[in-house]
Amino acid sequence: MGKNYKRTLVTCALPYANGPVHIGHLAGVYVPADIYVRYLRMRGEEVLYVCGSDEHGVPITIKARQQGCTPQDIVDKYHKIIDESFKGLGINFDIYGRTSSKVHEKNASEFFKKLYDDGKFITKESEQYYDPEAKTFLADRYIVGTCPKCGAEGAYGDQCEKCGSTLSPEELINPKSKLSGAEPIKKKTTHWYLPLQDYEQWLREWILEGHKEWRSNVYGQVKSWLDGGLQPRAVTRDLDWGVPVPVEGAEGKVLYVWFDAPIGYISNTQELLPNDWEKWWKSEDTKLVHFIGKDNIVFHCIVFPAMLKAYGDGYILPENVPANEFLNLEGDKISTSRGWAVWAHEYLQDFPGKQDVLRYVLTANAPETKDNDFSWKDFQARNNSELVAIFGNFVNRAVVLTHKYFGGKVPAAGELLDVDRETLAQIPLLKASLEKNIEGYHFREALKDAMSIARVGNKYISDTEPWKVAKTDMARTATILNVSLQICADLGIAFEPFTPFSAEKLRTMLGSPLDWALLGQSDILKEGHQLGQAELLFSKIEDAEIQVQLDKLDAIRKEREEAAKAEAAKQVAPQKELCTFEQFEAMDIRTATVLEAERVPKTDKLLKLTIDTGIDKRTIVSGIAEYYTPEQMVGKQICILANLAPRTIRGIESKGMILMARQGDGKMRFITPEEALANGAQIG
Ligand code: MF3
Ligand code: ZN
Repeated sequence: MGKNYKRTLVTCALPYANGPVHIGHLAGVYVPADIYVRYLRMRGEEVLYVCGSDEHGVPITIKARQQGCTPQDIVDKYHKIIDESFKGLGINFDIYGRTSSKVHEKNASEFFKKLYDDGKFITKESEQYYDPEAKTFLADRYIVGTCPKCGAEGAYGDQCEKCGSTLSPEELINPKSKLSGAEPIKKKTTHWYLPLQDYEQWLREWILEGHKEWRSNVYGQVKSWLDGGLQPRAVTRDLDWGVPVPVEGAEGKVLYVWFDAPIGYISNTQELLPNDWEKWWKSEDTKLVHFIGKDNIVFHCIVFPAMLKAYGDGYILPENVPANEFLNLEGDKISTSRGWAVWAHEYLQDFPGKQDVLRYVLTANAPETKDNDFSWKDFQARNNSELVAIFGNFVNRAVVLTHKYFGGKVPAAGELLDVDRETLAQIPLLKASLEKNIEGYHFREALKDAMSIARVGNKYISDTEPWKVAKTDMARTATILNVSLQICADLGIAFEPFTPFSAEKLRTMLGSPLDWALLGQSDILKEGHQLGQAELLFSKIEDAEIQVQLDKLDAIRKEREEAAKAEAAKQVAPQKELCTFEQFEAMDIRTATVLEAERVPKTDKLLKLTIDTGIDKRTIVSGIAEYYTPEQMVGKQICILANLAPRTIRGIESKGMILMARQGDGKMRFITPEEALANGAQIG
């Protein structure tokens, strides 16, 4: 904890290259990490910032199959999109590598081999699902069937996306291979396992006793895993996409993606610094911090540390693992597969030059302690009423007035009044709080501190009204603007981690330095210093722009609902129990024509129909008003069950039943003969 480190290695969870990154990823991992790194860099610390694409795993192979291309095509495509999105948002890793790289394949392979040679694994034979037609083992995701919990079709062997239940392939009703459609069979296979239980005591001491300061969500998850008892964990898979298992007799097997991916952090460091990487991974002077989302906690706090411990050779362990909870979008869980997301690359296209607004909103709303929601209305409000109205407005007034009254030169501060001194005195306090918050990984609070500096400035200039004072007292106006400009220069420093584009623009406009030590000093800008031209830091976001985004989401929602309906429509009810020919013969089914039709008062579903059955004219009450208006029914030839015992419905005697076909989603249509027949023609 209170250790003095010489350098900091910051890693960000390697995003799966099976889709673009979205605001959930950004808020959970990359924006907070970037704030942390920028802060440390600004303070002159030695930092290495490592990330890259996670390019193995079953979802990538599934996507490739769906799109009729190779897994390599998929990862090439998304690696590029993701890499560009990060750069576009000012998230500049020292290296953004890939787990399909040669360096990584070699490194991950050697890592496994050493553990294997050192006897750190156990092997186990187990029965796994196998596709007898495609002649391959099937990952859980490759098996689909009916969900035993909710009855939905197309549930995966590990999860039903309809009801969210966690499943195992054994539980699926009517399991089928996604590859060939064949029914999977069980077949024996052997895999290597890391016996995690051997590391349990050591993990308890290291984390539960040694890192009580970790975030409670992280600490809590670790504790419950450890209390639940650790089990051996398979580190290999039967699959043809991944790092091949580098031992005899392991044909057709690759390293499990969660075994190879974290090693990717090391591989990417090696790729960047082939001769110098070890000081980042094997020196006690290095502080290692993993930024991740909450679904990654067990891998970064239990599995990967156990792997490193097993490896030995001086690998360091993380000093902290700040994991965030999840961000929802307009009240719904973000989902790559369902397309419910705001994608980083689309945001950059739709809001050019507004990278900082997204960074700001995602930080202000960061799901640090609980799941949080992103809404476009909130995005707009935070831009318009915080960035524009407070931060931007303050800076603009100070700079414009300095140009107006003093030719853009920083005017001299005269004698300070209480209001000046009290205002300036707040900055060092906010600075101290900001430092403490960032260093404690409380980025939302840290942003509030930075914003408080802008609020202090904005209030100061509003209260002191230099535009009025200028009419009578230029010396006092000079002092007010001098104080205001010092606060502007503070903002150019304090906002660097959060909104780096605007902070840089502000510093260029002021000609002010980026030096943390100067923040809070009342003479950052010297008297007579020439300012650049005033430029707006932020601009208002109009309702129309927000509406475009809301419409986009509506379209996704509709598409999803329609797909769900189409799916439901296809569902067919199982066949009923057998009936005898006599039972069938007992039913008098015949053609008839609707003569009159009217709604049954005070009901939504019922029509009262007068029909000509060929035998008589009679009344039938039918629940079809949801699907047909009375006008649509009049004159239609239909089929009826004529000898159904009469029933009284809403006080009307109904004699018989209209035959309707009903599909899975409830939609109904009446049955009509292929060509008009005489009424009373018998059906059978
Ligand atoms: N790809 C994983 C995810 O998106 C994260 C991998 S992190 C690493 O959840 F450590 F394994 F690299
Ligand atoms: Zn289900």
